[in-house]
Amino acid sequence: MAGKLTVITGPMYSGKTTELLSFVEIYTLGRKNIKMFKPIIDTRYSMEKIKAHSGIEVDAIAINDPNSIFDHIDDSTKAVFIDESQFFNENLFFVVKELIDKGIDVFCAGLDLSFKQNPFPTTMKLLALADSVIKKKAVCSICGEHNATLTFKTSGGESEIDVGGKEKYIAVCRDCFNKLLRGEIDASSAII
Ligand code: ADP
Ligand code: TMP
Ligand code: MG
Ligand code: ZN
Repeated sequence: MAGKLTVITGPMYSGKTTELLSFVEIYTLGRKNIKMFKPIIDTRYSMEKIKAHSGIEVDAIAINDPNSIFDHIDDSTKAVFIDESQFFNENLFFVVKELIDKGIDVFCAGLDLSFKQNPFPTTMKLLALADSVIKKKAVCSICGEHNATLTFKTSGGESEIDVGGKEKYIAVCRDCFNKLLRGEIDASSAII
């Protein structure tokens, strides 16, 4: 039987990694053989861990080329978990397609939009392939509502590939994002 692809997406701090790890727990409880992957670029925390902003973490294999996923799986592998899909090249689409065709369940988490509201192409393609999509929201750092669908960059320049956390990014709702862009409010009023 073919595997299923679940894609978890949304802005920073929306709980994508936490949700990914909750699926890891389900497969672990069921004593299934699984493999976790993260991009080498994501050096925020330990190289060999997928870590959520809350601090929870699991061991993971850090890779650069999506094709190297095949070096780490075998006939016993029941599921593959991939965090930070936005940082992988678009070949991840074909790799994931092959994995689900082989009968392996795949769970991917990643940003849908950059802070400039440009879609990340690799996440976009995975969303198109997905059997299920979980779209998460964060708490808006400005108004405090659980309606943040966007990430606003508060410092650190214009690069759309720029690893970081609270020192340069906040999650905001669209109204607060637009007020920040227009200069009507300042990111220093962020509550989280
Ligand atoms: P993501 O992978 O989507 O960035 P994580 O799963 O790593 O999210 O982190 C989610 C955790 O981040 C929450 O459980 C909470 O503890 C923390 N957090 C920090 N800022 C926010 C925010 N603005 N909204 C929601 N949770 C936040
Ligand atoms: P997170 O979704 O797990 O919080 O991680 C998102 C990572 O992506 C984090 O390292 C910051 C980075 N990032 C970019 O490189 N470009 C962007 O436009 C945004 C919003 C985040
Ligand atoms: Mg994350
Ligand atoms: Zn808001």
